[in-house]
Amino acid sequence: MKERKVTQKSISQKLILKISQLHKRYNEGKSNEVHALQGIDLAVNQGDMMAIMGSSGCGKTTLLNMIGHLDRRSSGEIVINDVVTSTLSDAQMTAFRRDNIGFIFQLFNLFPFLTAVENVETPLLLSGVNSGLAREQAKMLLRELGMGDRLYHLPTDLSGGQQQRVAVARALINDPAIILGDEPTGDLDSKTSADVMNLFRRINRINRQTLILVTHNRWIAEQCDYIVHMTDGKISRIEQGPSNAVEGKQ
Ligand SMILES: Nc1ncnc2c1ncn2[C@@H]1O[C@H](COP(=O)(O)OP(=O)(O)OP(=O)(O)O)[C@@H](O)[C@H]1O
Ligand SMILES: [Mg+2]
Repeated sequence: MKERKVTQKSISQKLILKISQLHKRYNEGKSNEVHALQGIDLAVNQGDMMAIMGSSGCGKTTLLNMIGHLDRRSSGEIVINDVVTSTLSDAQMTAFRRDNIGFIFQLFNLFPFLTAVENVETPLLLSGVNSGLAREQAKMLLRELGMGDRLYHLPTDLSGGQQQRVAVARALINDPAIILGDEPTGDLDSKTSADVMNLFRRINRINRQTLILVTHNRWIAEQCDYIVHMTDGKISRIEQGPSNAVEGKQ
C-alpha cells in the first residue's frame, strides 16, 4: 500500500461522500415493489470510519451497493470525491469504482481458480501496475494479515477466516479512497476479527482511507468514529462512537 502523509483530521475536512435524497425501489412499479431506501441523506468526510447498524432487511446492504454503484438507484444524488456519479458513463464508472472504492462482501466473492496472492493482485493488474510489483505488494499485504504461509492456496483450500483475510487484502491493495465492508468480520473468530479491525484502524489513521462497515456486532461498531442506525430504509439516528470520544483521532 502507498503511504500517505499523516495529516491532522481537524485541519482538512474534505467531504469524500455526499448522498442526497437517495431512494431505491426493487421491482419498481410491480405489485412486489420494495421501497428499500427511503430518502437517505448522508455526508462522510475523508478519513471517517463509520459503522452502519440496523435490523435485518432495513436496507444496509442496499445502501452499500448504491455507494459502491453495484446497482442502480431509483432517485437521488451521490457525490464521491467531488464527482457527481450520475454524470459518468458505464465505462467511466467501472474505472472510477476500481480506482476509488474497495469492497469486502458478505460472501467473499473470491475468484475460485486463482490463488490467494493472485486474487489480491488482480485489482492492481487491472489498474495497469506491472506484474512483478503487483505480486510483491500482494505478498506484503497478505503477510501483514498473517497469510504468509498461504499465498499459493486456492480459496477452496482455505478456511472461512482465511478467505476473509484474502478478501480484505484484495479490497485494500488498490489503496482506494473508500472501503466498503458488508459484515467484513462476520465469519471470523474473535481474535482474527480483532486483527482485521486493528488493520482497518491503522490504515484509517495512517492513510486516511474512509471506511464504511455494515455490522450487527456492537463491538465492531464501537471501534468506529460514529454509528449510523437505519430503520426501514431510513437513517433513524447517528451515534458518536466511543473510540472517537475517548481517544480523538489523528
Ligand atoms: N434484489 C432484490 N430484489 C427485491 N428486494 C430486495 C432485493 N434485495 C434486497 N431486497 C429487499 O430490500 C430490503 C433491504 O434489503 P437489504 O439486503 O439491504 O437489507 P440488510 O439491512 O442488508 O439486511 P441483512 O442485515 O439481513 O443483511 C429487504 O426488504 C429486502 O428483502
Ligand atoms: Mg445485508
